[in-house]
Amino acid sequence: MEDILQEIEAFGVEARDALDHVSSLEDVRRLKSLFVGRNGRISNLLARMRDLDPALRPKVGKMLNELKCLIEERCRELEERFESGAKGKGGMPIDITLPPRRFVSGTPHPVAIVMGEIVDVFVKMGFSVFEGPEIETEFYNFEALNTPKDHPARDMQATFYLSDKFLLRTHTSPVQIRVMKMMHPPIAMISPGRVYRRDTPDLTHSPQFHQVEGLLVDTNITFGDLKGVMGDFVRRTFGDSVRTRFRPSFFPFTEPSAELEISCVACGGSGCSVCKGSGWIEILGCGMVDPNVFEAVGYGIDTYTGFAFGMGVERIAMLKYGVNDIRLFYENDIRFLNQF
Ligand code: DAH
Repeated sequence: MEDILQEIEAFGVEARDALDHVSSLEDVRRLKSLFVGRNGRISNLLARMRDLDPALRPKVGKMLNELKCLIEERCRELEERFESGAKGKGGMPIDITLPPRRFVSGTPHPVAIVMGEIVDVFVKMGFSVFEGPEIETEFYNFEALNTPKDHPARDMQATFYLSDKFLLRTHTSPVQIRVMKMMHPPIAMISPGRVYRRDTPDLTHSPQFHQVEGLLVDTNITFGDLKGVMGDFVRRTFGDSVRTRFRPSFFPFTEPSAELEISCVACGGSGCSVCKGSGWIEILGCGMVDPNVFEAVGYGIDTYTGFAFGMGVERIAMLKYGVNDIRLFYENDIRFLNQF
């Protein structure tokens, strides 16, 4: 009597184990017929009930029926799985022959690409890279750069003030002052970074953008050196066919000051909408360091001369890539960014 109960239990374990290790629909069908088929193990066990003590029959019958149901249910599940392929999450069939989903990696932002290229050009010429804080004081952002309070040039750069003392730098020029206060000439430095102005966004303006500043100070530096370095920068950035010219301009921290213009990258100089018909495009401001700036940092104005320049990175990127709206750089539209 005990025997048959143990036998049923052992059979249950054996059946479960066998069904856990099937590898094909054929396996499932074979085991199903072996276990629960008409002449299968369950049927044989049921047939032996006749010889049992009648008092035991209901218990054994119930056990066998439950086991049969379990095996049938498991077989149906397995048949279904093998018939429709393996099932993944949510019951979706898994096609293991499919290639894996492509891993989408990011790409450098166009502004970062161009900033890196500009920095590269100057580093190859021997300039060192310095970075300054985006939160500045009036001294570094204006006063030391020969732009005292009430100087009309402050209006050119609508400033975000954080407090009486602090502001968001309106240009990267204050880094010139920080470097000059820190070390003695000869100095050849550039400073890439983010700057802020209270401008309403439009095609060419953004309240936050990027600049690369440059400064070279030594004995006997002339405007000719500035022209040479700027010419080299333009050729390496825009190619050999682009021409340059300097137009007189004004900046408080340089004297004389100039704007560097290049022949239009869109039309080659014949005149188009990009250069507003002039054939020329302004790309940066530059000039010889004003003696007042040297005085602010304690350099002897009879010993040293130097030149400085500053450019907007977005502007250069727009010209290089033919982008006509600066706001595209900040919208994070993948369709735009994927082109670079
Ligand atoms: N700081 C100027 C601006 O933001 C750009 C500039 C002009 C920088 C002339 C210079 C320079 O160093 O010499 O508009």
